[in-house]
Amino acid sequence: MDEVRLDSLDGVGPVTTKKLNDAGIHNIMDLLVRGPVDIAEITGMEFDTAAKLVTKARESLTESGQLQKEFVSATEIYKRRQDIGKISTNTNALDMLFDGGIETQAVTEVYGEFGSGKTQFCHTMCVNVQKPKEEGGLDGGVLYIDTENTFRPERIVSIAKAKGLDPAKALDRIIVAKAYNSSHQELIMQEAGTVIEENKIKLIVVDSAVGLFRAEYLGRGTLSIRQQRLNKFMHLLTRTAETYNVAAIATNQVMSSPDTFFGDPTRPIGGNVVAHSSTYRVYFKKSGKKRIARMVDSPHHPEQEVIFILTEAGVSDPEEETKKKKKDESEE
Ligand SMILES: Nc1ncnc2c1ncn2[C@@H]1O[C@H](COP(=O)(O)OP(=O)(O)OP(=O)(O)O)[C@@H](O)[C@H]1O
Ligand SMILES: [Mg+2]
Repeated sequence: MDEVRLDSLDGVGPVTTKKLNDAGIHNIMDLLVRGPVDIAEITGMEFDTAAKLVTKARESLTESGQLQKEFVSATEIYKRRQDIGKISTNTNALDMLFDGGIETQAVTEVYGEFGSGKTQFCHTMCVNVQKPKEEGGLDGGVLYIDTENTFRPERIVSIAKAKGLDPAKALDRIIVAKAYNSSHQELIMQEAGTVIEENKIKLIVVDSAVGLFRAEYLGRGTLSIRQQRLNKFMHLLTRTAETYNVAAIATNQVMSSPDTFFGDPTRPIGGNVVAHSSTYRVYFKKSGKKRIARMVDSPHHPEQEVIFILTEAGVSDPEEETKKKKKDESEE
């Protein structure tokens, strides 16, 4: 894609290009995602120079129609929203909750206690996104940022088989990045642009978005730094999803807060930071063998609850199990 090359910008020669490349910025979109403060910091450039560069990047993308202008009519925003793709969950229950599926240009946060199915949901969506559009997918690849070492290719194989996709191909289209600490997690996100373009990525999974930050910043004294850094990470994720028109899922654990007497005694660990930067928030809860999903925060979905289950095929409708049992019984 020549139109997003750094040296297609006025005044950007080989020296600046190299400086930017060394700092992990490989195209015009990256300039926009990182912003002038970050660029000045990592390249040692003057802030004004970095700011001018970002302005040029924005102008160039606006001209080529890849980005919307600062002042736009609601009609134009409406049009841009028409570009939003949806990835079906392949279940009636969760598709009803998400009104068809999870959206591109947005971050969907899934939070819930251990074993509630967050990681299983992520794995399922890794397969669903690869399906053709007619079948609810986006015919796209996945960038999976694994911070808890819980990505399992075996699960992808079983889910793909259950959905009639070639397991080998399904695995090939998932790029896994293991994050070893929170700075590494940030770095992976900063460098994601090239990977997204080269692999036609349509879904970014961050499982979990919060875990490493939480482990590294323990105690009250460090809470505000943790929130600041987490805030920065979530914004980067949001900007990336918007700029590249991809969907993003960020998972988040909950901790019990004994001081709550009413309502659910759990709240997401990322607290308000994650809440404010994600577009959709869904709460997963265990209920015996079943799982409950509730849409908590959404600009345009009604708040409602649905029931799903976890099976060999990933997240599924409760009816699927009944159907399967009946089929097994009749075959006996
Ligand atoms: N192959 C499978 N078939 C059916 N159910 C499965 C399968 N694999 C996992 N599960 C279910 O998924 C549950 C684990 O869910 P998952 O790992 O998604 O939880 P999580 O919300 O990510 O938890 P954590 O906060 O610990 O990361 C298991 O308890 C089991 O019920
Ligand atoms: Mg998990």
